[in-house]
Parts: sequence; structure tokens; C-alpha cells
Amino acid sequence: MAKITTATLLKMKQQGKKISTITAYDASFAKLFDQAGIHAILIGDSLGMVLQGQDSTLPVTVDDMAYHTQCVKRGVEDTLIIADMPFMSYATKEQAFTSAAQLMQAGASMIKMEGGAWLNDTISALVERGIPVCAHLGLTPQSVNVFGGFKVQGRENDKAQQMIEDAKALETAGAQLLVLECIPSALGKAISQALTIPVIGIGAGKDTDGQILVMHDALGIACNYMPKFSRNFLKDTGDIKAAVELYISEVSAGNFPGDEHIFN
Ligand code: KIV
Ligand code: NA
Repeated sequence: MAKITTATLLKMKQQGKKISTITAYDASFAKLFDQAGIHAILIGDSLGMVLQGQDSTLPVTVDDMAYHTQCVKRGVEDTLIIADMPFMSYATKEQAFTSAAQLMQAGASMIKMEGGAWLNDTISALVERGIPVCAHLGLTPQSVNVFGGFKVQGRENDKAQQMIEDAKALETAGAQLLVLECIPSALGKAISQALTIPVIGIGAGKDTDGQILVMHDALGIACNYMPKFSRNFLKDTGDIKAAVELYISEVSAGNFPGDEHIFN
């Protein structure tokens, strides 16, 4: 497999090929996912929940993210490495510069931030300085206390319209990838069609340009509960590498997510 870059993912969208991505936090899983042919690995701040056992992602620090990014980097040969900017590490442009620099030097090739059009200036400044950005809209877990719980977002017409506008603004600012989390399928489809950049969904329906899952969910390792939008691919295969290969082929064939995994 050749090295995967943001250009590879853009080309996949243009050719109508579905993108499969997953989280990883260490070298061993990262190597296995890379060898299975996954298109990108996210070092998610979900590590606060699945590794640290916290009840949200808020306690995660840039040092935590940098440590796990270094671990993942050592296992990866070809796949694109994306690292999450944790809670309040990009509240100002200057903070974003420092945090993003640390994650890129730890081995990321792209960083991800949660939020809408308020991030436009930060995104364009990072891209100008050589740091590719993945945006993240919908149920953005760092805002769980504002939402009042982990709830599907964008169900009301005005909120849906706002999300479409935010997505377009983020693309214009220079974001090269967008993650949509826990939104109605129709909205996932509308945003994917409205943008030129690839849109990766988690609980955002089957019409996004690709999917992402937290590796623990995809392997059925539930710390607290199994989210509706996930599927246990290990149960179907009995082997971790085969599970990830099945995930990739099911996404590619349009079989995952199924009707039971989506929000209407
Ligand atoms: O932290 C994470 O794992 C994420 C994905 C669920 C998109 O942000
Ligand atoms: Na995250």
C-alpha cells in the first residue's frame, strides 16, 4: 500500500470510494490496522474514556495526546495519522499553535478540532503554517456539558441549517477533512454533498464519504455501553485483523452502517 495523504482521501471522495478510519492509541493496534488497509488512524481524545476510564474527554491533556501519538506513529507505515486537539488546547489561536506543534512533532500528519465557524481564523492560520486540519461537528464530546448529555445533534431545522453553514465555512477556512458525529442521516448526506472535502461519519448515516469508529466499539470492548451506531466486527470474525478487514469491506460495499446503526 502506498502512503495515504489528505490528497488520497480527496481522490477517494471524487471517485466515490468509501473511506474507512478507526481510532488507535498504541503501536500494536496501529500496526495491525495499518496492515489491514485502514485509510486513516485517529488518536482520539476518546482515550480519556476508553483508556483512562474517565466519564468524558475533558480531563485529557496535550501531553496525553502527544504520548499516544508517538506510540501510534511507531506502528504505522502507510496510513494517515490524525491526532485530536484536547479540551481547551485551542481556545485561542496561540494555544492552538503550541498544541498543534506538539502533536505534529509527536508524529501526527493532521490535527482535529471540535467546533463550528468560530474556528475559521485558527484553521486558516494553522494551514498557512503547514498543519492540515480535520474539523468535527455534531455531537462534539468536549461540549457535553453545554449539550446536557451525549445527545444526537442537528434534529431541529435551524440547528441543521446552522451545521451546514458551519461545515461550508470550515471548508472555506481550509479544513481538509470533516468528522460528523451523531446527527440524523439526512443531515449527514446533505453536508457530504455540500462539501468538496471528504466527510467522515460516526452515527451520521451511510451517505457520508467514509466512517470512523472507536476501536473498542468496533471490537466489542464496551467499557460502559455499546453505542447504537457501532457494530462488533470481532464477533463476526473471531480475529482482530479479520475484524478490521471486514469493517473496511463492509464500509466499502455500503453495508455498514446498516439501518439499525443510524439516526433519523
Ligand atoms: O475521540 C474520538 O475517538 C473521536 C472520534 C469518535 C471521531 O473524536
Ligand atoms: Na475526539
